[in-house]
Amino acid sequence: MVERVRTRVVAVDAESPQEEVIREAARIIEGGGLVAMPTETVYGLGGDGLSAEAVARIFEAKGRPATNPLILHVASQQQARELSRSWPEVAKRLSEAFWPGPLTLVVRRAPQVPDAVTAGLDTVAIRMPAHPVARALIEAARRPIAAPSANRYTQVSPTTAEHVRAGLDGRVDLILDAGPTQVGLESTLVSLVEDPPRILRPGMIGRAELGQVVELASGDGKEGRVVDEDVPRMSPGLSKRHYSPGARVRVVDEATFAQLIASPRAQGRAFIGIGAKASAEGVVYLPDEAEGYARRLYAALHLVDASDVDEIVVEKPPEDGEWEAVHDRLRRAMG
Ligand code: TXA
Ligand code: MG
Repeated sequence: MVERVRTRVVAVDAESPQEEVIREAARIIEGGGLVAMPTETVYGLGGDGLSAEAVARIFEAKGRPATNPLILHVASQQQARELSRSWPEVAKRLSEAFWPGPLTLVVRRAPQVPDAVTAGLDTVAIRMPAHPVARALIEAARRPIAAPSANRYTQVSPTTAEHVRAGLDGRVDLILDAGPTQVGLESTLVSLVEDPPRILRPGMIGRAELGQVVELASGDGKEGRVVDEDVPRMSPGLSKRHYSPGARVRVVDEATFAQLIASPRAQGRAFIGIGAKASAEGVVYLPDEAEGYARRLYAALHLVDASDVDEIVVEKPPEDGEWEAVHDRLRRAMG
């Protein structure tokens, strides 16, 4: 077996990142290396977005099939336009309304975007993150940073530096630790190469908010439900088990949850409930509002998954619109 060197984890101020830390990280990116960086959604596994070699290293580190394209992270509108062949009116409106922030736009790609980034597609996914550390790093590296979530393929996305280390230790050159991420779920992904634009992956910028800025394709319930890895599709990365922990995930209604939790607990079962109750051994309670729940869901999955359970029983969240992204991730986790 190959011995891997432990990856260095460096603390960085989330609000005003230390210049020397950013400089070091930027040098690694410029040299073709990989840096795990915090964004407001989840931690990303970053590399030079214009270098086919760096991008190949990202796929390798993640264990992800090269058929699944990456998001390019930018620090300015100008940089986004340079990566796209055309920047339609809808891109202008959405980016001005929601950037920097947890929204990724799929547009036609410019020739300078390496094939490796887009998995050969004629389109490219672009996002301007709001996190000061990500922004500073992109600026210092003077190039777009390609970054998938910093987890091994099919594992739960990381919302802390420790999650990153647990999954990618020895596979990344540096991990920047700015504490837990704010949003907690991956960005909303919208295709602008369809008319009207369509949500490919729901996120915490919801359909209602987007709909105030552009007219969207109606919700056909298929968002984020693209399944088979080997079937040609718009968004090859959206396979159902993309967000899964190792244990089986089961979502049940409130009554069933109460019943299961009260019954003599089958060994190897953990619970994720809703509401302001005290967490106990094997039971984590998440906030009863969507933003707080989303922020902490992946940490809860990482926690119970690390405790070596066979099954995670999740109390079903409310059905309202702002919970759409949460339901989407739970569905994927169920596989
Ligand atoms: O919040 C996020 O979006 C995080 C942070 C790090 O920015 N990134 C992230 O990247 O979630 P990743 O690679 O784990 O998920 C990106 C998704 C994948 O499902 C991929 O298939 C899809 O975006 N994607 C990328 N390029 C695409 C394209 N040209 N057309 C359609 N889907 C695309
Ligand atoms: Mg991912």
